[in-house]
Amino acid sequence: MMKTIKSLFLCVLTLAAASCGRPQQASTTGTTPAVERRVDALLSRMTLAEKIGQMNQVSAGSDVSNYSDAVRKGQIGSILNEVDPVRINEFQRIAVEESRLGIPLLVGRDVIHGFHTVFPIPLGLAATFDPALVEEGARVASVEASAQGIRWTFSPMLDIARDPRWGRIAEGSGEDPYLDARMGEAMVRGYQGTLQDSTTMAACIKHFVGYGAAEGGRDYNSTFLSERQLRNVYLPPFEAAVRAGALTLMTSFNDNDGIPSTGNRFILKDILRDEWGFDGMVVTDWNSMGEMISHGYGADRKEVAREALEAGVDMDMMTYGFISHLEELVRSGAVRESAIDAAVRNILRTKVLLGLFEHPYVDAAAAEAVQYAPEHLDAARRTAEESAILLKNTGVLPLDAARTGRILVTGPMADAPHDQLGTWAFDGQKQHTITPLAALRERFPGRVDYVPGLRFSREKKSHFDEVVAAARRADVVLVFLGEEAILSGEAHSLADLNLIGSQSELLAALRSAGKPVIATVMAGRPLTIERDLPNCDALLYAFHPGTMGGPALTNLIFGDATPSGKTPITFLRTVGQAPMYYAHNMTGRPYNGETLLDGIEAEAGQTSLGNTSYYLDYGAYPLFPFGYGLSYTEFAYSDLALDAASYRRDGVIRVSFTLSNTGRRAGTEVWQLYVRDLVGSLTRPVKELRRFGRETLEPGESRRVELELPVSELAFWGAERKKQVEPGDFQLWVAGDSASGEPLAFKVE
Ligand code: NOJ
Repeated sequence: MMKTIKSLFLCVLTLAAASCGRPQQASTTGTTPAVERRVDALLSRMTLAEKIGQMNQVSAGSDVSNYSDAVRKGQIGSILNEVDPVRINEFQRIAVEESRLGIPLLVGRDVIHGFHTVFPIPLGLAATFDPALVEEGARVASVEASAQGIRWTFSPMLDIARDPRWGRIAEGSGEDPYLDARMGEAMVRGYQGTLQDSTTMAACIKHFVGYGAAEGGRDYNSTFLSERQLRNVYLPPFEAAVRAGALTLMTSFNDNDGIPSTGNRFILKDILRDEWGFDGMVVTDWNSMGEMISHGYGADRKEVAREALEAGVDMDMMTYGFISHLEELVRSGAVRESAIDAAVRNILRTKVLLGLFEHPYVDAAAAEAVQYAPEHLDAARRTAEESAILLKNTGVLPLDAARTGRILVTGPMADAPHDQLGTWAFDGQKQHTITPLAALRERFPGRVDYVPGLRFSREKKSHFDEVVAAARRADVVLVFLGEEAILSGEAHSLADLNLIGSQSELLAALRSAGKPVIATVMAGRPLTIERDLPNCDALLYAFHPGTMGGPALTNLIFGDATPSGKTPITFLRTVGQAPMYYAHNMTGRPYNGETLLDGIEAEAGQTSLGNTSYYLDYGAYPLFPFGYGLSYTEFAYSDLALDAASYRRDGVIRVSFTLSNTGRRAGTEVWQLYVRDLVGSLTRPVKELRRFGRETLEPGESRRVELELPVSELAFWGAERKKQVEPGDFQLWVAGDSASGEPLAFKVE
């Protein structure tokens, strides 16, 4: 008897009743017995119809009356796409004051990289390698959005993306699970803060899982990821974000190996709930339950509603599957009411943890005041500065403001206030954007000539006489190229990744004027810019930089800020190389050319180029490797040392190295630590990122950097179907990118 009481108590303490009977795990959402009692008390008063109502999410129309009756009847648990604080308050008033149980609505929105103040797109955020700054940006987004009544954001997107054709590569942190995990945790912390504070939002980690591996980079396509790939590459960022306390998770559109995610019990129950102990809420993607019918995984909406519930979905976004069929399914015995109770507990828990019952309303009159606050704009500018990557510099940058006379500003992205915001910036208002042209005109009154050359990126043109004449009159040419916001993001995949339209021709024409040409590319993905590099003296790559892109780029070009961004994704030479990523497995016939990764494959004893893994026309290597980026100064790495030659599996590797600024300007270097497990129960990646950091050094300054790497972080999901460290030989690098440095060897016993 005593034993039963004790285990019951533990069950309440650890998490929702949903997890009782499973191995005890700490709550991932931080729920408490008091929260659980409140949830249970509410649940016990709910009718079946009211429970199912909580599981229904709809997109608000422009008119509250469209849904007011349904909210009043308790048929809606959440709305998305309503941002007007007055209308949100009205929705909440109906829910709280006119529905039988007074349960507030959860109001969601895609606040992806800022709300009104737009930060660089997530791929650009990842290029900062600065989780603290990314957390600050997420906090800004929360403050602005929550002021209008939005308490749930569908962010961060944690999909690993290794194919730049996929338009949604813009929305994530790129190709690397470790970087993605750190960015995801930072965003979760930034959005959620201490939750009860009503300036926070619940995060929604998405899309679970594998969505970024869409075949051919075509959005919504099938994926075929093995369990090992899932566990070693695609799942770790999600697990990290769950451990960071993410309150909600969204399923993905793709089917993996034939099973649509929204009906995939293995990932939603076995892994997410049972292995990780997630006690937050799972929502479908928009109609992804309904799309199981198109996938051919269910015959009708009733069938897919049952499949989704059984797989572990709590809330239906826009299929109307739960609201239309669950009651009938329970009555017929096809679905147990206990499954519905478990889902509703997860939803109510989220609402309680957010403090929605205490603070359902916002002060609509005050909402305006926090939008575009000076400190928000300042954070957005700093982030855009850290996010830009210097890919080429013959020494022309930074320009000397005092000595630069006439400046020609040209290119389709020079004055594109909407497009520099990037994808998923619904609420960013272009009248608040500062474009490069605006920033440059303000900084250099009377010295800027603006001739667009091309009015938009897709424009086709063969003559550039006017702009070339203007270039001849100028002292320097600043050309802003790239792709408009609409060319990346959801459903915007591309098969050709060269600069679109006649942009390469424009650049070549400008080159012919004989003046220094500084190119800036603003884009949602790494474009194939190899053919453009010879036509400029310097090239800055700014993944769509957001509201403050203009001032940030101006500061970088004129040396008030120094570039420190690094590529969060491999830059390809040509689209035919996709997918290509640094952490690829060692092949049986590694390429051994004179290339960027020289030395790594050489040790495997391969010397001949014949019959190895490369393209006859494009070789084996990308244009720029992962982690690459120049500064206005140079950095040298020396004296890499480990505190031992051999470690126990429960040990800690103490790593130190000296970083020196050997150039003539102050600068910040993003150093990266990579490891390689030389022989495993499975073939292993040639390198894997395990730590990174930013160090700011004055010219001539050196710093000894010391860090600890627990051996447990070398673990992977191996042949024994569990995650563990396999003893043997390892290598470790610390360098400025994934293709540099000399390794140190060590052993794990
Ligand atoms: C579909 C997208 O895939 C998802 O990322 C987004 O959050 C939802 N629509 C809601 O807008």
